[in-house]
Amino acid sequence: MTHMRAFVASPETPTPVLTERALPQPGADEVLVRVEAVALNNADLAPVTAEQVAGYEFAGEIADVGSTVDRALIGNRVMGISSGAFAEYATAHHTHVAPIPDRLDPTSAAALPISLITEYGALRAGGLRSGDTVLITAASSGIAALGVQIARALGAGVVIGTTRSASRTGLLERAGVDHAIVTDGGDLAEQVSHLTGGRGVDLVLDHVGGRFVDPCIQSARIGGAVISVGRLASPTAEVSLFPLAKREVLLRSVSYGLTPATVMGGLFSAVSTHLLPAIIDGRVTPVLDGGTWSFAQLPEALTHLREGRAEGKVIISVKSQPHFGSTSH
Ligand SMILES: NC(=O)c1ccc[n+]([C@@H]2O[C@H](COP(=O)([O-])OP(=O)(O)OC[C@H]3O[C@@H](n4cnc5c(N)ncnc54)[C@H](OP(=O)(O)O)[C@@H]3O)[C@@H](O)[C@H]2O)c1
Repeated sequence: MTHMRAFVASPETPTPVLTERALPQPGADEVLVRVEAVALNNADLAPVTAEQVAGYEFAGEIADVGSTVDRALIGNRVMGISSGAFAEYATAHHTHVAPIPDRLDPTSAAALPISLITEYGALRAGGLRSGDTVLITAASSGIAALGVQIARALGAGVVIGTTRSASRTGLLERAGVDHAIVTDGGDLAEQVSHLTGGRGVDLVLDHVGGRFVDPCIQSARIGGAVISVGRLASPTAEVSLFPLAKREVLLRSVSYGLTPATVMGGLFSAVSTHLLPAIIDGRVTPVLDGGTWSFAQLPEALTHLREGRAEGKVIISVKSQPHFGSTSH
């Protein structure tokens, strides 16, 4: 096999297009993965500045390795992060994959890597301690729903989640929140204060940004932390500095897409140590949107995500085809 099917995004096409590409070769420190399933992320909706194979998150089987990587890994089932995931084969740095626990099939495993790395990294950046009360905004989003479970697996006490829509509180409860706050119209800090006996939460993971950052700061306890993880509403925010100072709140922003390969490798290693046991025993389990889309349906699945209809991670099954151009998916 010298060629593969891949979805390619370009500045001219808002939605990636299915096309034929040469099979990628693993670099010296990379693995080549035969992709079995991929998951969609909000980042897949953003325009690109240069033509590229789309997608970031995959699960599959190691088909080949680079010259510095242990050949015994060939055949291992892995989930990982790499740009160019929306293809039958993808390369990834060998430290940017984690083993898939036996209980998970590839379509469930594909939902995990970005959420695991991001939410684990953010909770660590916020100094999560056992028993802490955590507020997670946009808890219905693909990564944050898993963040609820990760917080709990790392020892959080009460976990509060937000959604804009009352119809989504069931999803938040399925993800494992103790309290769901519907944010349309209500004062977030006031509701958090009510739920925490006036104290505020120890840690906020904010996925909304924009005008939500200030209420997140107001929701934190004195000496608490707000970690900006997502910018669903806006990447810019106006922050009232006096309340930030008065409450002695740590405000920090994380973006693991901008992280050097070694830092990402360190996060994969920490996640494998601290969270794989919780995935194996089911305390951390993928929160999936109903059903699995075929590879050819990927553009429709992106529309489903863009229109805010997804309830959990959207998964695409990727079955390698011997001949490019087949339409039987
Ligand atoms: N820091 C990092 O390294 C990192 C890594 C991955 C992702 N992210 C970021 O994290 C965020 C979540 O990513 P995702 O892929 O999980 O997103 P997603 O699944 O597309 O999230 C969709 C959900 O977010 C909520 N939402 C959407 N627009 C909103 C708005 N304007 N205001 C408030 N809530 C809104 C909606 O939930 P309700 O209808 O229930 O409110 C919607 O169902 C994105 O901003 C993404 O770029 C950051």
